[in-house]
Amino acid sequence: MNHPHVAIVGATGAVGVEMLLCLEQRNFPLSKLKLLASARSAGKTMLFRGNEIAVEELTHDSFVGVDIALFSAGGGISLEYGPSAAAAGAVVIDNSSAFRMETDVPLVVPEINPEAVKIRPRGIIANPNCTTIISLMALAPLHHAFGLRSIIASTYQAVSGSGAQGIVELEDQMKAISAGEPVTLKVYPRQIAFNVIPQVDAFTENGYTKEELKMLHEGRKIMNLPDLRVSCTCVRVPVYRSHSVSITAEFDRPIDADAARAAYANRTGIQVIDDISNKSFPVPLDTTGKDDCLVGRIRKNLVFANALDLWVVGDQVRKGAALNAVQIAEIL
Ligand code: A2P
Repeated sequence: MNHPHVAIVGATGAVGVEMLLCLEQRNFPLSKLKLLASARSAGKTMLFRGNEIAVEELTHDSFVGVDIALFSAGGGISLEYGPSAAAAGAVVIDNSSAFRMETDVPLVVPEINPEAVKIRPRGIIANPNCTTIISLMALAPLHHAFGLRSIIASTYQAVSGSGAQGIVELEDQMKAISAGEPVTLKVYPRQIAFNVIPQVDAFTENGYTKEELKMLHEGRKIMNLPDLRVSCTCVRVPVYRSHSVSITAEFDRPIDADAARAAYANRTGIQVIDDISNKSFPVPLDTTGKDDCLVGRIRKNLVFANALDLWVVGDQVRKGAALNAVQIAEIL
């Protein structure tokens, strides 16, 4: 592809803004950038490489001449406009869950299954769920060396994962509590300030939430491991940005902490921060605004054979969404 004409759908949203930043910071070679959002934002300008670009209203005709369309405006918009963009000849890279589990849509983490981008009969490539990406960034290098069999995970997910409204709700509740006033619930089912909530996304029939099942289904698809077993509990925590995940992973072959740390050497996108004698382990503030995921607290699990415990942290707006999408665009 010569320098492509790129469009961002949902350019004014939390992930859209980060996509713009990633394109700029990574010097993504593009010939033209089109910013699309709702009619509410039409005419608003955004800065890209020192130039102001006017936001345009998204329509079915927005994609004439566009080579790559990065979608992050919610699943409904992706379902409605993604096929129009693909029909106009654009490769759609979709951040929503709308197409992730379709068999003719590749689901890609560039460090793990970059070859999958080549087979895209519908012209659509899906970006995985943020928690799944961050977890797999830590697990894929170990799978490569030791053969991953099962995952038991608990997540600690930041409020920015719910968009700007999640941050507003946390701040409003903290202010209300400090002022001795009652809190208002809009985004979350329970108070999020000074609390944690063991529900992310809607519950399904088997008692797991949709978010928890994404780790299972998307993990199997990305790693091409149809028999992978996953049990996950997703928890919302009063952190602004960056998700953390505590993982117990079982492998086919014997594994220990040193062998695991060695497996991360020479891998891109994941760094080991793991020196407990110096209280050195990753926390969400370490990864905020950063590209790499950080893994630490690596230790042999005391319950299962061939199993390891670890703690991985990543910026869910960046590697969990915008950066991963831009990296997919880079390998096209
Ligand atoms: P807008 O800012 O004009 O509402 P977030 O996930 O942070 O809430 O962002 C959602 C993104 O999706 C925003 O860029 C938003 O644009 C965009 N969006 C929402 N509804 C539509 C729509 N009907 N058509 C196009 N873009 C939309």
